[in-house]
Amino acid sequence: MSTDKKILIIDDEDDIVEILQVIVESHFDNPIVTAKSGNEAIKYLREDPEIGFILSDYSMPDGNGGKVYEYNKENLNLPFFLITGGYTSDYPEIAGFLNSEPLNRFFQKPLDDEAFLKALEEVINLEIQKPTFSSRRVRISCFKKYYKGEYDVFIKLSDEKLVKIIEKNIEFAENTFSKYEKKGTQFIYLFEDDYKDFSSKLISQLMSAIEKAKSEEDIINATASTVEFISSDIVNQGQIGSEEIKLIDNCVKGCLKNLKNDKKISDLTSDMFKVGGYLVRHSITAIYLSQYLCRSLGFNTESVLEKLTYASLLHDICILDSDLSAVLFLDSDEFENLERPRKKQIREHILQAVNLVNNNSSIPDGVANIIHEHHERPDGSGFPRSLTHANVSALGSLFHIALVASDYLSKNKISDATAKLQFIELLNTIYLVGVYKKPTEEILKLLEA
Ligand SMILES: [Fe+2]
Ligand SMILES: [Fe+2]
Repeated sequence: MSTDKKILIIDDEDDIVEILQVIVESHFDNPIVTAKSGNEAIKYLREDPEIGFILSDYSMPDGNGGKVYEYNKENLNLPFFLITGGYTSDYPEIAGFLNSEPLNRFFQKPLDDEAFLKALEEVINLEIQKPTFSSRRVRISCFKKYYKGEYDVFIKLSDEKLVKIIEKNIEFAENTFSKYEKKGTQFIYLFEDDYKDFSSKLISQLMSAIEKAKSEEDIINATASTVEFISSDIVNQGQIGSEEIKLIDNCVKGCLKNLKNDKKISDLTSDMFKVGGYLVRHSITAIYLSQYLCRSLGFNTESVLEKLTYASLLHDICILDSDLSAVLFLDSDEFENLERPRKKQIREHILQAVNLVNNNSSIPDGVANIIHEHHERPDGSGFPRSLTHANVSALGSLFHIALVASDYLSKNKISDATAKLQFIELLNTIYLVGVYKKPTEEILKLLEA
């Protein structure tokens, strides 16, 4: 399919359309058309000969995916991806779906990103999409908020041609971006290295928004946009979509609300948000990474997500000090250099939190154990019980890996290649064993993507 053919995305839920759009856009340059129902989609298919590929949900009011498929099969037979909550056998009217066009694919929710992208690549010929130099695209609406004239900026005229619209360090007209936006241009392009610089600056801005945020809600929102950006742009895979962000956001709010019934814990959580900095950032980031790992490993039920959210929020609740909560291991220099009472605080914060959680019957079973294991390591060098990989639980190890990765993200810039290599080395040497292995592999994939 050529790059100017349009992709039609059909789903009645705006969030899903948005997620699919982000995934497709970050990989392909084709224009996208969206429809909210099967009947609306059929109208577009009738009127727009430029549509070359269909991506549709099944269950929708006002014309389901089966109806769109029928219309397409009779009239156009464009490649068709059907995304459903069930199995093909649940949908009798789409019998023969896979046979009617060799590129047709059937996907179940939640979407397996890797298989999905691979199939997309098959449909869309990647070769002619590659610009003539190594570049990355950024949505104008986001870019113009942060651009200060420091990079050459391009727009795309055709598959092969990028045209410079702003020369770096030379003053540009204020309406430059709106002029192109008015013409319908949505993306600008940057050289690969400029993109890296841009994204790392943007992340530090988002990070400082987290620092400045006052209320719990602001902090959670600011952290969410950071993680969303890190995962969707740096990693460029759209790993955590806006639907998931919302889901996690609701889960966090639910947990915090429930904790309000426990005076001691809720006082400590409010204090934690007041302390801010690393303490809050790594705790919130851990929620997102835990969710990401659960999804990648296939056990993302709501109850598991809830447990991990509680664990993320409460694991360092008895060590309300950003410097101390940033000490992960007792064999580190950071720990060695501390005075004795502070060392004691680090050693004791785990059991103190476990006791608080055990005394609250409204916190789900299993949370205390995840917290108990959050500083254990596969080789037995962790604390407080020096467990090895053979004795740590699946959720405990997953949470530890989420914390180790949050620690890396909270302390380093993504663009710092040395820090990244060191972190990858740490994961490779210590964590690729037993229950730690799978979550570690997922983080490695994320870093190497
Ligand atoms: Fe801790
Ligand atoms: Fe921690």
